[in-house]
Amino acid sequence: CERPDGRPERQRLLVVANRLPVSAVRRGEDSWSLDISAGGLVTALLGVKEFEARWIGWAGVNVPDEIGQKALTKALAEKRCIPVFLDEEIVHQYYNGYCNNILWPLFHYLGLPQEDRLATTRSFQSQFAAYKKANQMFADVVNTHYEEGDVVWCHDYHLMYLPECLKKYNTKMKVGWFLHTPFPSSEIHRTLPSRSELLRSVLAADLVGFHTYDYARHFVSACTRILGLEGTPEGVEDQGRLTRVAAFPIGIDSDRFIRALELPQVQEHIKELKERFAGRKVMLGVDRLDMIKGIPQKILAFEKFLEENSTWHEKVVLLQIAVPTRTDVPEYQKLTSQVHEIVGRINGRFGTLTAVPIHHLDRSLDFPKLCALYAVTDVALVTSLRDGMNLVSYEFVACQDAKKGVLILSEFAGAAQSLGAGAILVNPWNITEVAASIGQALNMHPEEREKRHRHNFHHVTTHTAQEWAETFVSELNDTVVEAQLRTSK
Ligand code: ADP
Ligand code: G6P
Repeated sequence: CERPDGRPERQRLLVVANRLPVSAVRRGEDSWSLDISAGGLVTALLGVKEFEARWIGWAGVNVPDEIGQKALTKALAEKRCIPVFLDEEIVHQYYNGYCNNILWPLFHYLGLPQEDRLATTRSFQSQFAAYKKANQMFADVVNTHYEEGDVVWCHDYHLMYLPECLKKYNTKMKVGWFLHTPFPSSEIHRTLPSRSELLRSVLAADLVGFHTYDYARHFVSACTRILGLEGTPEGVEDQGRLTRVAAFPIGIDSDRFIRALELPQVQEHIKELKERFAGRKVMLGVDRLDMIKGIPQKILAFEKFLEENSTWHEKVVLLQIAVPTRTDVPEYQKLTSQVHEIVGRINGRFGTLTAVPIHHLDRSLDFPKLCALYAVTDVALVTSLRDGMNLVSYEFVACQDAKKGVLILSEFAGAAQSLGAGAILVNPWNITEVAASIGQALNMHPEEREKRHRHNFHHVTTHTAQEWAETFVSELNDTVVEAQLRTSK
């Protein structure tokens, strides 16, 4: 069955990401249970429905034995997922090391490892070797499952070396790569020892996408300044071959959230939450417990607000739901202790026998509970120090059509470019400014809340994950695949 342009009606899409949409937990020698994975990449991709998609990625678990691997492969096949098995050493060097201790902080402007993280800098070469090895393992699995006519869509900073590996297998393969984090200024990227190799490999893709125009511009500048290539309005040119570079702002499946609010189970949770926090305004933070999310800064700003506004004591509560993430990386372990220490101190300082100002939960919430929390919230606080987009802000807006709560949003989140007109934008490093914005949000006139919410709700419901994926894949289909491979030099 073909479309007028000759493409199959439901083109097969191979979605390749380090993290599969489900994470596996072993229940027995050959039995597994699968839970939805947390994170923006998974949330966005789960909102993409109109493709014949297969997912290729890591199930988040080490499976050293053949029996376990076979059983997991079978269980994942029912979800259209294909596993890439990574052993413990690769996970340590590639995922914990190169991806999450080097690329992730660097792309979020937190710099390369310093001081106690110097040991990591010394093991940089071995971590980069593991990164390339892991990317090659992903390429092998893609190559095994690839059929002519498929489109291969690679995702995120874990797989920057993948486009080149794939093109080495098959120059005709349509390969797109999308980054879910910021791409930093070229001045930051140039500090990375493997800066050129990564850029060259990404350029092997036919289409390279980012959340915002700024990130795309930074990437093109890095290619021109570091590799000496030519930047054009379409992308980057190297010896007559163009790699198209563009911005494709992501969205969520807003209908899923809006519909969920009608479910009896969600209504029940809403009722319970309203009773539980009756007489108090609810402020909400929902984040992975990650250093880029500015959680300590957010809590300190809330403390400052309480310090300066005694009339609000016992009348406002901050619910901070922080799902633990990347728990084997020392920086993340330190963050957890730091957040616990600050929360304990503030609750000791401002708590009473009947009320504590901060409820901090280190866990993931299921979808009905999350929707209910978003719906009862008066003020959402998203204070990322840097964030590719931040989909929590979108989810909050989608669930607020009845209440019209206020979004306080970091100007350093990609979402500031789309929701900036409706949100109160803040510099998360400026605790005084964030504290003042909490006061502004809690006291905002209903008419202004309505006006701000209308703007954001319109954006969130008209820029969906489905539309994002369709635009990217359609543009990828329109690129001309060069038969000639440009290998990295
Ligand atoms: P990131 O991509 O850094 O994870 P995003 O805000 O874009 O940040 O996406 C985070 C996703 O993870 C959202 O879909 C959000 O609902 C989900 N999430 C984050 N924290 C939790 C939590 N504590 N419980 C349930 N879901 C969570
Ligand atoms: C961000 C990244 C994703 C990642 C997610 C969760 O959204 O862009 O690639 O999957 O965080 O992190 P994790 O390390 O658990 O996959």
